[in-house]
Amino acid sequence: MATIPEILTERFAPLLTDTPGAEAGVGPTADPRFGDYQSNAAMVLARTLKTSPRALAEKMVAALDVSDLCEPPEIAGAGFINFRLRTDYLERQTGRLAGDERLGVAPVTSPRRIVLDFSSPNVAKPMHVGHIRSTILGDCLGRIARFLGHEVITDNHIGDWGTQFGKVIYGWKHFLDPEALKTDAISELVRLYREVNALEETDAAVKSAAREELVKLQQGDPENLEIWKEAVELSWQAFQHLYELLDVHFDERLGESAYHAALGPLCEKLAASGLAEVSEGALCIFFRDIPALADKPAIIRKSDGGFLYATTDLATIEHRVREWKPDAIWYVVGTPQALHFQQIFAAAARIGVTADLQHIAFGSILGEDRKIMRTRTGENVGLAEVLHEAIERARAVVAEKKPDLPGEERDSIARRIGLGAVKYAELSQNRLTDYVFSWDRMLSFQGNTAPYLQNAHVRIRSIFRKLEGKFDATAPVKISNGEERTLALKLLQFGEIVPLVLEDFRPNLLANYLFELADIFHGFYEACPVLKADEPVRGSRLVLCDATVRILRHGLGLLGIECPERM
Ligand code: ARG
Repeated sequence: MATIPEILTERFAPLLTDTPGAEAGVGPTADPRFGDYQSNAAMVLARTLKTSPRALAEKMVAALDVSDLCEPPEIAGAGFINFRLRTDYLERQTGRLAGDERLGVAPVTSPRRIVLDFSSPNVAKPMHVGHIRSTILGDCLGRIARFLGHEVITDNHIGDWGTQFGKVIYGWKHFLDPEALKTDAISELVRLYREVNALEETDAAVKSAAREELVKLQQGDPENLEIWKEAVELSWQAFQHLYELLDVHFDERLGESAYHAALGPLCEKLAASGLAEVSEGALCIFFRDIPALADKPAIIRKSDGGFLYATTDLATIEHRVREWKPDAIWYVVGTPQALHFQQIFAAAARIGVTADLQHIAFGSILGEDRKIMRTRTGENVGLAEVLHEAIERARAVVAEKKPDLPGEERDSIARRIGLGAVKYAELSQNRLTDYVFSWDRMLSFQGNTAPYLQNAHVRIRSIFRKLEGKFDATAPVKISNGEERTLALKLLQFGEIVPLVLEDFRPNLLANYLFELADIFHGFYEACPVLKADEPVRGSRLVLCDATVRILRHGLGLLGIECPERM
């Protein structure tokens, strides 16, 4: 089903054939007094043609054939063309949307194969808030890309190979607590890591012993390999537990260790072809032709022979391109790694990678004191703690609002509200800005929050529970007042918003749309009785309610948020 801007754009096409590159420039108006949709085509084109925009707008309006869908278009301001949909057209189009399984969201015409690299926590280090953002954002982008018809391969590039393992193995051999490992593997591994780190400060012998363990691991020592394997597996199980809670899934889990053997040959190849050169003993790729990177070469082999993060990422790109032939690779990783991605993308271009490589960056999460969020003891907050606290707090809210719910149902509602609140707090923000993590705000039933939207969903569902007789999904939509009209127009925008999210990777556009939709529905419901109305108005309003509730549920689903039936 085409969106209104698409339909209007098509009508502009015959007017623009003589001016290559000219666009219809149709979008919703900011102010309903100027109509429903607006085009700036005349203004943009007048600049190219060096003519008066108003005169050009008049010529365009005279030639435009839109009488079947709009009132006569009006020219406003310097040369905007404003469109107001005809009521009968809006009614038909809304009816079509209500009958459309995809709720007006058309699949893309050229689907792409996308590798989505997200979450990617490190073994023997706790998942921190940066990983929370990556996990929630990445999952949402994957859901939306799939819904739009793209093929998405999700790959969790876990940090399962690195210098931390020298310390972990040394700690494992000297003071492992097997009981603690069983109950909370991540904490025990982090404890080992920290303890050895502290010892290294004062004891040079420990430092060289830990290095020795690392070298042995890298050379394939069976005992160290065994310890490493177990540490990775136990960490993965703990991660997996959180992913299941969050309903986040990965097709692949090719961590850094998967590329270990490829690093040496890759460096040899790059050196032999002249793409990399030795500088002060280190093997580097220089980008002298890229001003921003001119003095920032990517080091791919240190002078002591060690490989780096960039080396692994280059090997990873090579593997992905060879195995999966993707059109694009998306990396959902925090802003502090921006330079790293600029370097490896530039290096990848040198070795002939043509896939569209995107670093989808994001800012930090701040505590209510506006500093980087930490626990009371000053550590980075882990994902597990955040999720469990969210569910606990939601349970308390539900217990207060609905004291007599059976325990099992209360648990499942609390889980949906708590996890939904955390996800929505993330996704409703512009990803690049830092945001303040506030339990009270995100769990509030008022304002731009998940519980508000979930509650709107519950309230509309309850209309249908009260409905006696059958719901006729094919009842014709009739628009008789402003509230119905505003709601119908908003419903039709779902198909415009969803694809827009991927243009600049902004789930907050969808979140804000859903919030506005719920708000508009609220206004409609205050003004327009539904069950008490007479036919055919009643049937039409029920169709509007049904389309709203389906868009809310589906839209929240694209954000990875489930809706309870009651709350
Ligand atoms: N493990 C890394 C970190 O925690 C993130 C990895 C992101 N993906 C990548 N291909 N570099 O910082």
